[in-house]
Amino acid sequence: MNETNLPTIAQLLQACTLPALETRMLLCHVTGLSREQLITRREHRPSAEQVAVFLHLGHQRLHGRPMAYLLGTREFYGRPFRVNEQVLIPRPETELLVETVLDCLHGQEAPAVLDLGTGSGAIAVTLALEAPHANVSASDVSPAALAVARGNAAQLEAAVTFIESDWWQALPPQRFDVIVSNPPYIAASDPHLQQGDLRFEPPQALTDNADGLSAYREIIAQAGGYLQAGGWLWLEHGYDQADAVCALLEQAEFGRIGSKCDLAGHARVSGGQML
Ligand SMILES: C[S@@+](CC[C@H](N)C(=O)[O-])C[C@H]1O[C@@H](n2cnc3c(N)ncnc32)[C@H](O)[C@@H]1O
Repeated sequence: MNETNLPTIAQLLQACTLPALETRMLLCHVTGLSREQLITRREHRPSAEQVAVFLHLGHQRLHGRPMAYLLGTREFYGRPFRVNEQVLIPRPETELLVETVLDCLHGQEAPAVLDLGTGSGAIAVTLALEAPHANVSASDVSPAALAVARGNAAQLEAAVTFIESDWWQALPPQRFDVIVSNPPYIAASDPHLQQGDLRFEPPQALTDNADGLSAYREIIAQAGGYLQAGGWLWLEHGYDQADAVCALLEQAEFGRIGSKCDLAGHARVSGGQML
């Protein structure tokens, strides 16, 4: 294509049928221009290659692919995390879990922390950076997810020890002061799995292929063997699962069981202390 036949930024912004914010984000991503430059350089003509990539990403977005996968990044707790289709896109609600664990770590000397099912590493890396006095380990059953998590830890300069393990199976016999997990908790029968972003995320990160509680059963039943006396287990769960998760914690003889609510008032994080 002759360079003068290429569309300008203004023409691309006008022609694209995506929401304006998403169009701008994709254009910035593809051209390397800032949001301000999109406004001040409206007559700039991106290269033929940039236009082709923009059109490809726009097409993917129109077919529902999440923005985070198209951009390859999602912000969590104020930091950019690299993501791809092998990991769950970190959710803002998970920041409540991080806040809860940070409260718990406050005042402890060199606590050992374990993040089970780390995915992109969002929880483990954030904890390592926000609580540098903690020794953070993180596990996942998915080697592809662990590769993403390792990349994020390196990029963000967080000291995290990664372990490939099916929940407790390959974990070394170590005791932790805090264990945290955001496991797959969507029931196999939940129609949301076929909707929105979830269609593109790894099924293993979303559903236990059962009633949504089997990962909690497995994690809670064995957590006592990996916690110090007085150690805490904190779990993220679905908006309607707090009672079930708290009942499992009670059965496993955890004490000081409690739940925390998100901004919408739904209990989304529950935990207890191994007494
Ligand atoms: C809901 S995602 C959470 C990812 C990340 N911690 C976050 O909060 O964004 C659940 C994670 O658990 C992992 N997972 C699923 N089954 C597992 C198992 N049996 N053992 C260990 N990890 C598992 C998935 O690969 C996925 O990364």
